[in-house]
Parts: sequence; C-alpha cells; structure tokens
Amino acid sequence: ARPIILDCDPGHDDAIALILALSTDAFTPLAVTTSAGNQTPDKTLNNALRVLTLLGRSDIPVAGGAQKPLARELIIADNVHGETGLDGPELPDPGFEPVSMTAIELMASKLRESQVPVTLVPTGPLTNIAILLTSHPELHDKIERIVLMGGAAGIGNWTPAAEFNIYVDPEAADIVFKSGIPITMCGLDVTHEAQIMDEDIERIRAIDNPIALCVAELLDFFIVYHRDPKWGFTGAPLHDPCTIAWLLKPELFQAQDCWVGIETKGEHTQGMTVVDRHHLTGNTPNTKVLFNLDRQGFVDLLVERLQAYN
Ligand code: BDR
Ligand code: CA
Repeated sequence: ARPIILDCDPGHDDAIALILALSTDAFTPLAVTTSAGNQTPDKTLNNALRVLTLLGRSDIPVAGGAQKPLARELIIADNVHGETGLDGPELPDPGFEPVSMTAIELMASKLRESQVPVTLVPTGPLTNIAILLTSHPELHDKIERIVLMGGAAGIGNWTPAAEFNIYVDPEAADIVFKSGIPITMCGLDVTHEAQIMDEDIERIRAIDNPIALCVAELLDFFIVYHRDPKWGFTGAPLHDPCTIAWLLKPELFQAQDCWVGIETKGEHTQGMTVVDRHHLTGNTPNTKVLFNLDRQGFVDLLVERLQAYN
C-alpha cells in the first residue's frame, strides 16, 4: 500500500477526499494534518477529527498546522463551506484528540520513520507543506510526490486569475512548486470537469450506509453555492477528491508535464499558477498538470468506494 499523508482544510470536498482515501487498502494513511483555509484552523482541525470519528478511524494521528498563511492574513471560504466549514450533515463530535505535535512535527516524524518515500496529498492552502519543506530539507527525499488540489491553467475561482488554495498562500505555493519534488496538480481545469450532478447525489444517497448518506448531505449543501449561474455549472465540482482519484485511477485523467510558476506579486494575478503548456519559458517542467477527466468513471469510482463502507 502507498503511504500517504493528507493535509487538508475540511471543507466539504476535503471531507469527501478523506472518505475516499480511507475507503481502500491501496493506501496506508500515516497522518491527517490540517491547514487554515476553508475555515479557521480550529474549525478545520475539529472537522478532520469529526470525519475520522464518523469513519471510526481514531487510529490515524491528527495534528493542526499553521494558524495563518506565511506572509498574509487568512482568508476563509465560509461562503462556500458555511459557519462550521462542514455545514449540512450531522457529524459526531470528535471522539479523540489530536496528537501533541504540530502538523509539521507530525509530518516530519512520519517521513523520518517511513522505510519508503511517502506521498503528500494537500487539499488546502500549502502553508504546512511549505514550512515542512523549508524546515526539513533533509526529508525531501522521503517525499515520493506531492499530489495537490490547487491552481489552474488560466482560470480562477476566487479571482479571475487565481484558485482559492493558491490565492490564500501564494508564498507557500511558490516554495512548494520550486522544491524540485515531483508534483501532480489537480487544478480547476480538471476539477471543474469533476461535477457531481443531482442524479449522482441520489445514487450516492441510495447506497444507504451512514458514510454515503453523510457524503450525500455534504453534497446537498455544497451544490447550492455552485448553482449560481455565474459559474455555468450543472452540478458541483468535486475538487479535492480528484487527488485521490488520480492516485487510484490515473487512467481517468489526461496529464501534461509543464513548468508552473506562482504569481506572488501581480496587480490582477496574485495567486495565479502560470502554466507553461507550450514550453515558452524553456524552464524544465516541474509539475504534472491534469487536464481532462472521464467524469462518469470518476463518479463510478466514488460510488464504488462508498459501497465499500457497507
Ligand atoms: C479549493 O478551495 C476549497 O474551497 C476547496 O476545498 C478546494 O480545496 C477549490 O478551489
Ligand atoms: Ca480544500
């Protein structure tokens, strides 16, 4: 099984990514760490504990990370994820405590212990990962790959140019993309194709186990924000689960190796991922950028994995 560490800011789609990741023995989940993003860091940590409690996975160590971005004030997405960060379903209260380490200490200790390189899966702002990389250069070769949700090639969802996770902490993203560690980027190009439609939500609800029901209720809430005609969506884009879906079934996606740079200073483009699709910079590609998705295959995978909780 592939050892993974999930660094997330749950968040509806983060929660579904966690549920997907923990549905299979393809992974050994070494830790779940939380970032400040969709909600304040206390709430995202609490939400990770609630989701793991629902899943009966108090065996997985959990730790909270940085309180705010490296060089900026925190921006949260309560307009998307609500007051708790996971509005909608009735989740249990946390049935266990986080470990007495920071997210960075927990990730570092798991990397140090691991006999084989570990895959990091960040689905929130990259603050914790950037701190890990700068404070522990000796652990870089313990990281197999960073499979992240963030960015896009030329579109945005928070500003016209920027996707939320990168916009919240561009300085952290800059460190990660310059690290030399192999990166897979699940950006909006592909996550906007990962739309869950009303009929998919009903299919998930009909699986009729408590986890699938929770996912359906998360989606009932999450889809409302995405119904605004300004998006041009039919359903809700399931951003974060694309990371896990790519690890499980890369054949559902098309990918291109590109150089990606982070805009930290632009007047209109702060937080933009500049994706060199046509090799115009001459820079060596640093990122596998995902572009196209077999949507039906993605939904079928999610349904199959939720059935596994029966
Ligand atoms: C990203 O921002 C968050 O709201 C989601 O959880 C996802 O990680 C999409 O831009
Ligand atoms: Ca997220």
